[in-house]
Amino acid sequence: RRNGIDYKVADLSLAEFGRKEIRLAEHEMPGLMALRREYADVQPLQGARISGSLHMTIQTAVLIETLVALGAEVRWASCNIFSTQDHAAAAVVVGPAGTVDEPRGTPVFAWKGETLEQYWWCAEQMLTWPDPDAPANMILDDGGDATLLVLRGAQFEQAGVVPPASEDNSAEYNVILDLLRRQFATDATKWTKIAAAVRGVTEETTTGVLRLYQFAAAGDLTFPAINVNDSVTKSKFDNKYGTRHSLVDGINRGTDVLIGGKKILICGYGDVGKGCAESLAGQGARVQVTEIDPINALQALMDGFDVVTTDEAIPTADIVITSTGNKDIITLEHMRAMKDQAILGNIGHFDDEIQMAALERSGATRLNIKPQVDQWTFDTGRSIIVLSEGRLLNLGNATGHPSFVMSNSFSNQVIAQIELWTKPEQYDNEVYRLPKILDEKVARIHVEALGGQLTKLTKEQAEYIGVDVEGPYKPEHYRY
Ligand code: NAI
Repeated sequence: RRNGIDYKVADLSLAEFGRKEIRLAEHEMPGLMALRREYADVQPLQGARISGSLHMTIQTAVLIETLVALGAEVRWASCNIFSTQDHAAAAVVVGPAGTVDEPRGTPVFAWKGETLEQYWWCAEQMLTWPDPDAPANMILDDGGDATLLVLRGAQFEQAGVVPPASEDNSAEYNVILDLLRRQFATDATKWTKIAAAVRGVTEETTTGVLRLYQFAAAGDLTFPAINVNDSVTKSKFDNKYGTRHSLVDGINRGTDVLIGGKKILICGYGDVGKGCAESLAGQGARVQVTEIDPINALQALMDGFDVVTTDEAIPTADIVITSTGNKDIITLEHMRAMKDQAILGNIGHFDDEIQMAALERSGATRLNIKPQVDQWTFDTGRSIIVLSEGRLLNLGNATGHPSFVMSNSFSNQVIAQIELWTKPEQYDNEVYRLPKILDEKVARIHVEALGGQLTKLTKEQAEYIGVDVEGPYKPEHYRY
């Protein structure tokens, strides 16, 4: 704690470097800067205490400072143990007007290379505001961990007991249960109070959105949620074009192998898989795809990629990337069948796409090459190179998506926060998407920033196709 701000970051003296990169990023984030201008006087987030769990990068720093510029108070943690950029975290704590000795920014609890225990400690700090009578009243989430902690914590408190860890639970879930059990012993109302105070959550990614719909279906969602991921200007841009940039960045920084000519297997051909395949094909790789969904499989074929099964493709693949958001995609048997020194990485949200726990128990030996790059050698004598311990490699081995694409995603986040904070009466405890007109607003700002010239509908044309001259231009069922 310094100058009244509590925080835990790797090194506060990195703030100056972080601030320089934040200034460059602001120029590349026209959506966020336009929202700052639009709402400077109105201060729509006045009174909001936002607890945010999202990769603590330079781009996220611009998001955080936009929320603050709109009147919010904010506390932050990263949503992955490897994704924090330490200079960004330091700069956010120091703030634009502060110094290392006198920070004036935002409390951040995040550093690159946390343990799981430290990760959940950070999550707890991010959700614990200094005044217990003024708890968090908004959540901004990526992957759903903050929401999970609050909702599960409140459920356990209301049931009067935290259940013991069952054998099926993952190591990660056991850490959460440990945390809740300790807390339950000292304060058995903490999460209930937070859950009651929260007006809503805005969720960034496919995997977190899946969790939200599951909570809602079970009747366990106790506040409204906005699914930011399924704004068109989010999933059809960040998941695809962001990945098209940052997947190769991660592979290059992690391994620097030549991608051209290599056989690469992409598991999953959704928005992320499409971006992965396109970028690797652009490098001259021979790309193969696995899919369970015939529609996505057909898209892959039409885009020129073979659709295969993992069992069939794994023995000859040079690089294997998972992008499904599902679990057990690459099993221990698959890893043992891979070519010597083949590269294995995941770009989906959680590390259970690859059976990392089974690899660790398998007797294979681990040689750390550098942070987030490990060579695992099997008793067969063959080895594989695993990136970021199976966690999302574009943020673990590189710096994630670039600013311009994140400006689209984060503009949706800010608009969604304003929606839930200012119009709570309009939302039930369900999962909503932003109206299309706001999606189009985000796109328009970025079209203009890129110098694109939009054609304006005439009144007659608008009537002919049945839309308003000012939009929205497509029906809800349109798929882009
Ligand atoms: P999506 O739902 O569009 O695509 C996933 C695809 O995987 C689907 O087409 C599905 O049919 C397929 N799939 C599911 N199980 C499979 C299996 N067993 N074998 C083969 N294919 C299978 O989801 P999206 O948006 O592409 O996201 C994928 C993951 O990436 C999610 O976990 C999401 O949260 C994460 N994500 C990561 C980002 C990053 O920067 N690393 C950015 C955006 C999303």
